[in-house]
Amino acid sequence: MSDFVEMDIYLDQPSEKYREKIEDFKEEFIRSGDILYGTERLQDSDSFEQWLERVRKNRYQETVEEGKPPSYEFIAVRKSDGKIIGMINVRYNLKEEMYKYLGHIGYCIRISERKKGYASEMLRLALIEAKKLGLNEVLLTCDSDNIGSSATMKKNGAVLENEVPYQGKITQRYWIYL
Ligand SMILES: CC(C)(COP(=O)(O)OP(=O)(O)OC[C@H]1O[C@@H](n2cnc3c(N)ncnc32)[C@H](O)[C@@H]1OP(=O)(O)O)[C@@H](O)C(=O)NCCC(=O)NCCS
Repeated sequence: MSDFVEMDIYLDQPSEKYREKIEDFKEEFIRSGDILYGTERLQDSDSFEQWLERVRKNRYQETVEEGKPPSYEFIAVRKSDGKIIGMINVRYNLKEEMYKYLGHIGYCIRISERKKGYASEMLRLALIEAKKLGLNEVLLTCDSDNIGSSATMKKNGAVLENEVPYQGKITQRYWIYL
């Protein structure tokens, strides 16, 4: 991973102090019609409070929503101006069927900040968090035509295990060993 350029971002957990910035991030996606992957369905929440409550509950096995693995949500914040650049979700305690298509990590970068290396750095930082959660290997999945996402994974050492048909597309399954 010697081709990593030092990036000006850090990960933090969402909290009330980021409200305006998270809403700004969400609005950019809604305007473009793009999907907010790895954000605990930020687009579906009626209010910031409701979403934050979901994020907090979903951290723990005891309180996670039915049918979901527990997960930690992180925001990638740019140090120089405090702007939220991306969001990333690290899941653990996956059930067997979740190893088919879901994987441990989902993420997105805001449209205006893409192709600048942020996703690669955000994933690198999230892998450190995954290790802290006790994970020694993580599964990542993406559509086979999502070149940006697969390149982001590969830059972080991902190795392709296989490709499987899923919902009319081909899903690639990658592993990163921590
Ligand atoms: C996929 C995504 C996270 C990439 O974010 P990003 O910040 O642009 O990625 P990076 O700048 O770190 O780029 C990583 C690599 O992918 C390449 N890349 C990024 N977007 C690309 C695209 N649309 N087409 C081709 N290559 C692309 C970059 O050139 C870079 O490779 P390089 O270093 O060899 O040049 C972003 O496009 C996104 O949020 N997409 C929508 C959500 C999504 O698909 N999430 C993943 C679901 S599995």
